[in-house]
Amino acid sequence: MTLPVNAGAQDAAEIESRIQALLGEMTLDEKIGQMTLVHSYGPIEGDFLENLRAGRIGAILNDVDLARVNEMQRIAVEETRLGIPLLVGRDVIHGFRTVMPIPLGQAASWNPELVERGARIAALEAASHGVNWTFAPMIDITRDPRWGRIAETLGEDPHLASVLGAAMVRGFQGDDLAALGTIAACAKHFAGYGASEAGRDYATTNIPENELRNVFLPPFKAALDAGVASFMTSFSDLNGVPATGNSLLLQDILRDEWQYDGFVVSDWASVEQLKIHGLTANDRESALAAVTAGVDMEMASTTYREHLADLVADGEVSEATLDEMVGNVLRAKLMLGLFENAQTDPAALPPTGNPTHLQVALESAVQSLVLLKNDNDTLPLSDAGLSSVAVIGPLADDGYEQLGTWIFDGDPSLSQTPLAALTGRAGDAFRVRHVRAMETSRSRDAALEEAAAAARDADVALLFLGEESILSGEAHSRADISLPGSQEALVKAVAATGTPVVAVIMAGRPLTLANVLDDIDALVYAWHPGTMAGPAIVRVLFGDEVPSGKLPVTFPRMVGQVPIYYSQKNTGKPATPESVVHIDDIEVRAAQTSFGMTSFHLDAGATPQFPFGFGLSYTTFAYSDLELDREAVPYGGTLTASAVLTNTGKRAGTEIVQLYIRDPAASVTRPVRELKGFQRVTLAPGESRRISFRLTPELLSFTGRDMQTVLEPGEFRVWIGGNSDASLQARFDMLGAD
Ligand code: BGC
Repeated sequence: MTLPVNAGAQDAAEIESRIQALLGEMTLDEKIGQMTLVHSYGPIEGDFLENLRAGRIGAILNDVDLARVNEMQRIAVEETRLGIPLLVGRDVIHGFRTVMPIPLGQAASWNPELVERGARIAALEAASHGVNWTFAPMIDITRDPRWGRIAETLGEDPHLASVLGAAMVRGFQGDDLAALGTIAACAKHFAGYGASEAGRDYATTNIPENELRNVFLPPFKAALDAGVASFMTSFSDLNGVPATGNSLLLQDILRDEWQYDGFVVSDWASVEQLKIHGLTANDRESALAAVTAGVDMEMASTTYREHLADLVADGEVSEATLDEMVGNVLRAKLMLGLFENAQTDPAALPPTGNPTHLQVALESAVQSLVLLKNDNDTLPLSDAGLSSVAVIGPLADDGYEQLGTWIFDGDPSLSQTPLAALTGRAGDAFRVRHVRAMETSRSRDAALEEAAAAARDADVALLFLGEESILSGEAHSRADISLPGSQEALVKAVAATGTPVVAVIMAGRPLTLANVLDDIDALVYAWHPGTMAGPAIVRVLFGDEVPSGKLPVTFPRMVGQVPIYYSQKNTGKPATPESVVHIDDIEVRAAQTSFGMTSFHLDAGATPQFPFGFGLSYTTFAYSDLELDREAVPYGGTLTASAVLTNTGKRAGTEIVQLYIRDPAASVTRPVRELKGFQRVTLAPGESRRISFRLTPELLSFTGRDMQTVLEPGEFRVWIGGNSDASLQARFDMLGAD
């Protein structure tokens, strides 16, 4: 895709001098205007129009009516004193009209190039509606599937989220923000939001600084390195100081250590909420806390508009501080080329929902699917071998629910459902009988008998289960993460017929599936796959595409295991297969220490249902011959680790080869495994290839006790394999510095 570059693209020095020139002319009121992001929707009139003309609004969010957006830009440019254009923000999270899989689903592709293309399509479609700034990527790390916002994340792992988050930034922003069809990205939510207590949205987070730096911050640094134009603060309270007023995050780390020169926006009314958190006594104090910490722009609430001028007059905030903050905002506007052209001509951009966009959504959905179980090679189905298929469940034919959370602009009329795709494929070759069985995914009553009757008459029962969109996303956390409503009963009723059961689960989070796994012969985890769910799923079910997705997040057996994640610490008493006893097997009045004293749950054991990185294929892969190019690495040197991957099955397939390390003795305990590299590799049946990874000193470093990045000499272990339980292992030593 080559797009014309806006003639306004400018070099950095010119941008800085234009910022200074503007600041020199701006009144205090106009400066505060640039720090104000208002929700706008509807007619441009009244106070809103007056504020717009007076330069008291620097940015708007949530209007995608192009005529209105163009008119607002015209007013900002032609009718305000200094003609400063507007930022137009929108939550374009996984597509605009054309909807890609939810970010967690995209993460299951482990394919940065595809994630980048998805974001590019989203940018093009959003830009055609006047949007020039998206509130994405969301790169919060979470290990808690109860949290509804896990759907928006790129998974539990800092390395995977860093690589994919940077890819999204590149997709939205391209190489040149001023180019037609690129939009500014926003790394959010800075930081720690994903650690919300009990997975309850907006809840408190307590994260030791060392953990914050080693786990939660790396994706933000990667987004920054990819050039992300803005950061959004988190709603959450971090260690007693809500992120929106947290100067460790916003000053010490973001500005001083990382030297960030983009702008920072609050989350929705999160400045005003500092008072509700209990950090400040009133709005004036909230404005002061947020400005002092470094929030350049306030979203939705108006404490800046109401109190900043007074705070400056009273000497509590210096105008020089404001100048720097306003400069950060103006820099983004200049880089976007908005001063040269703030008007959007939709004819200059590709139409939304066009075949190229749908094709990317299809590829993205295909690669997001994870095959979690496939007993007796139930899948792929063969058209020739089928005479009748039962399609059962609330999500088989629901073009809205397959889109997932954050689809303000998603167009369900573009959606292709699994039922439609199956019916299209069947033609006269086999019969398709559809029983929705439950009105919604939450329904308490299910047409069990009708479903069973359909299954009984069919060669295979395809169950489309999971969560409707509203059960995940912001403020939609769950304490019980099993299949909602009567879905478990539905699975059991269908399984009892003896017809092979294939379950396709669409959901915004990992669900606990232990109650039904044995009833299912094959299981495809589909997340919310977006517009092209139907063709993607059907192509995989019938083997036109070989599944390649891998889990970007650990699946617990029971919700009580949460947080459970592969890169846990070892503890002083790690569980071993021998030390784990099940509650049903404990002798009556067993002696307290009789089965060892290790770290596990009596009812759930020590392992997850499915580990991070796991996913099956229609072929099989074997790993062998792990080699390191040296066993002793000079301090600060780089090592190459490689292993031979062989396609041992009968079909061509793509494997996501994963490299993990462990630093078994360090000044701060390190995780039992950490992902440090991955590659998608496609092999023909019988083909072998040696796959190499470079382990650089950066990848082997971590934040040590004094919060500095350290590379520590000593032993390291390395694994290469197909998931986080990989067994092929080697070791090397990092030699000491002389
Ligand atoms: C969410 C943000 C979002 C913002 C604007 C907030 O409630 O936390 O992620 O970007 O609203 O819609």
